[in-house]
Amino acid sequence: MSTNLSAYLQELRSVIDGALERSLPEGAAPTLVVDAMRHGLMGGGKRLRPCLTLMTAEAVAPLVGLTTPRARLMALPGACAVEMIHCYSLVHDDLPAMDNDTLRRGKPTTHVVFGDGLAILAGDGLLTEAFGLIAASPSPVAAAGAPEAPAERRLRVISVLSAAAGAVGMVGGQAVDLRAAGRVPSHPKEPMGERELRDMHARKTGALIRAAAISGAMIVGVEDSIVAAVDYYAQEVGLAFQIIDDVLDVEGSADDLGKTAGKDAAAGKPTYPALHGIDESRRIAVDCVARAKATLDAAGLGGRLTELADWSLTRTK
Ligand code: IPE
Ligand code: IPE
Ligand code: MG
Ligand code: MG
Ligand code: MG
Repeated sequence: MSTNLSAYLQELRSVIDGALERSLPEGAAPTLVVDAMRHGLMGGGKRLRPCLTLMTAEAVAPLVGLTTPRARLMALPGACAVEMIHCYSLVHDDLPAMDNDTLRRGKPTTHVVFGDGLAILAGDGLLTEAFGLIAASPSPVAAAGAPEAPAERRLRVISVLSAAAGAVGMVGGQAVDLRAAGRVPSHPKEPMGERELRDMHARKTGALIRAAAISGAMIVGVEDSIVAAVDYYAQEVGLAFQIIDDVLDVEGSADDLGKTAGKDAAAGKPTYPALHGIDESRRIAVDCVARAKATLDAAGLGGRLTELADWSLTRTK
């Protein structure tokens, strides 16, 4: 077992990257769409969400009598699905019709390389394949003989992820974000206060982070009260994560972030720094993390998940 968080995350990332490469429909789908999907999916990214899926599965494994290696293998298809959904959202988020970004993870964005049409399709492909990956048995990303969660648990994870990614969650949050940037002719921009901003962040970022975390707990079959604790933890970490994303857009550099900084202010986006200033935004994020950690303590979890919550505040990219 690795001794510190960054070595542990690195180990999880390499497992996830290997599995993601195997998730692509190489050979079965037209090469051009697989190439565009690979561009959006591979080569960079912190892999926070799939790490969270594997970490929660490992954290709760002893409660259901599973070893951590078996819990990790069981959660791997769901973890890959979460990252595919996240990458689809980034490919679409960067399109000219949305945030119009040309740099992502230190590389030109998918539409810059492949054109808008193929970038839209690559996003559609990633989103659709994500659900197929959880449904598939045997899983194309798992090694032969790897433990597989029962079908009803996988169905529950599909249900949780689709709700988080859909109109109630991420798609809804992105729609509110688009309007807030004055990009929806039918629905003019309206001023947003703390409540509206929190709701937008909860949908556009929080929903998938929560789903990532609870998927790991659900797939190993832990009881609902533990799933609920993991959910509350992830809700707080998810908000802290997006607040820090907003802060880094102000304070960070393209070199560190791998994406263009200063875009939110240039687009007149409502963000935590715009509403509260940098110091107060960081303070709000610290409070979120404190609540997340208290929840873990009360549920008898902790360990790596506690360290991850702290990392969400100190990260620089
Ligand atoms: C960027 O997410 C979009 C947000 C919701 C803040 P990440 O900061 O997790 O991006 P990658 O996956 O590491 O590139
Ligand atoms: C993106 O939020 C959220 C989703 C893609 C769902 P941002 O627009 O703030 O993400 P970045 O800053 O481009 O990574
Ligand atoms: Mg955006
Ligand atoms: Mg963006
Ligand atoms: Mg941002």
